[in-house]
Amino acid sequence: MNEKQKLLDELKKEIETNIALPLSKSANLVFGEGNPDADVCFIGEAPGFHEDKQQRPFVGLAGRLLDKLLTELNWPRESVYITNIVKRRPPENRDPLPEEIEAYAPYLARQIEILQPKIIATLGRFSMNYYLPDTKISRDRGRLFHKNNLFIYPLYHPAAALRSTNVLEELRKDFLRLPQAVERAKNGGVIKEPPPSEQKPEEGGEKQASLF
Ligand code: URA
Repeated sequence: MNEKQKLLDELKKEIETNIALPLSKSANLVFGEGNPDADVCFIGEAPGFHEDKQQRPFVGLAGRLLDKLLTELNWPRESVYITNIVKRRPPENRDPLPEEIEAYAPYLARQIEILQPKIIATLGRFSMNYYLPDTKISRDRGRLFHKNNLFIYPLYHPAAALRSTNVLEELRKDFLRLPQAVERAKNGGVIKEPPPSEQKPEEGGEKQASLF
């Protein structure tokens, strides 16, 4: 078996047996799935109803949109890796609490350490702000960031795109630039200056520089 897969399986067992983790009494573990050697790791916020039932990430309506976007890129779902920051469903699909994010964070960090993706594509503001606390999704989606040795590419959450055609268009546009972002990350990031419109963060906003 792939060495990375072995380490991932061990990590999954560790989470399963840590019954002190929040949500462990009320929901199933949705660890994540995909190709351990993928260039891109998508990170959502937390599982929903269908994900909890099937113990797989992004298998509901939002997942169907994610699959469709992957198909547009000719990237089979199995070729990428997909997971969430919080690995169990919050009751009634409420937003994850800061303490839930904090409790699962060390496991997510280890998962990423094993996977070593070229790019982390965050889906929605929770996973984006987990890596880039000062970013704003409407301003910073579709830009490539480099922080703590990770390349982060924020995207709108597919569920938000299902509620708004504008968001869907933006998500699609950003998504289709993912191969380009991966290439830039592989080349160490900076290839060209961001266009002038992107150089000035909004007042009181982001201080981390994006690479495009
Ligand atoms: N939304 C998420 O953030 N993650 C999932 O796995 C499903 C829906």
